[in-house]
Amino acid sequence: MPDVRSHTHADRPSAGTPCADDSAAGSPQHLARDPAVTTRANRGWWDANADDYQREHGDFLRDVGFVWCPEGLDEAEARLLGDVRGARVLEVGCGAAQCARWLRTQGALAVGVDLSFRQLQHARRLDDATGQIVPAVCADAAALPFATGCFDVACSAFGALPFVADAGAVLREVARVLRPGGRWVFSVSHPIRWAFPDDPGPRGLVARHSYFDRTPYVETDPSGQVSYVEHHRTLGDWVDLLVEAGFRLRRLVEPEWPDGHRRTWGGWSPLRGSRLPGTVIFCCVRESG
Ligand SMILES: C[S@@+](CC[C@H](N)C(=O)[O-])C[C@H]1O[C@@H](n2cnc3c(N)ncnc32)[C@H](O)[C@@H]1O
Repeated sequence: MPDVRSHTHADRPSAGTPCADDSAAGSPQHLARDPAVTTRANRGWWDANADDYQREHGDFLRDVGFVWCPEGLDEAEARLLGDVRGARVLEVGCGAAQCARWLRTQGALAVGVDLSFRQLQHARRLDDATGQIVPAVCADAAALPFATGCFDVACSAFGALPFVADAGAVLREVARVLRPGGRWVFSVSHPIRWAFPDDPGPRGLVARHSYFDRTPYVETDPSGQVSYVEHHRTLGDWVDLLVEAGFRLRRLVEPEWPDGHRRTWGGWSPLRGSRLPGTVIFCCVRESG
């Protein structure tokens, strides 16, 4: 397991070769700044790893459940989206669409979008198992196949945004498909995690990297192709991107590790959760202008 970066909702990928921290032209990090390279790599990675991901985390996520993060914050209690009855809701980077499925039980007209066909096949499997069907489409969050202003709410639990090279493009697309005044709430790894090794044990408590270094975390396959990418933004970067895309930030939630929560997920653990935030949730509204 590499000793750098990456603190996604997903486990760190165990296959592939971590690359040296080198942004020189032609290096994997340089290539990964190209949105097309990142998108192709992550589609392949999620298609290849969706089965393992759902097998390992499906019980925690529940077939019909809205878990915001490895800390276990549940929308049923948090209500960050407000009352969704009758609301047209888009789940961005929905995976197996557990969140959208739960939203439908709350009366929302929820649909999902995800880059990975295999993740969406798991969504179909859960539709069949639960009888709670989520309409979902396979597409890149940077090019949403929906009409302007057609959603009241958009949400994402670690979907798409930690992985994309151009987060601004995704945020602009979300702003486009939301009506003025619509809500946009999404969780990602807390940016401070970037400074620490992705290790659930004591090693993960010592800062070894610069929080300000935006070099992407990249893995390559044996042929040298970029096979997995995560991109880092500081908190300030996120706020700038949100404002530029036309959002007003209303809340920034840093879920605390609950007492008695023993589950380790990748770099998330009770030990680290007692000292460091692992997740940040941005609660925004699309400006009217
Ligand atoms: C960690 S999962 C989150 C899904 C779900 N909320 C969960 O907790 O399992 C990340 C999801 O983002 C999707 N994703 C990655 N890049 C994307 C992109 N550019 N557009 C849409 N979805 C993307 C992946 O395919 C994956 O299903």
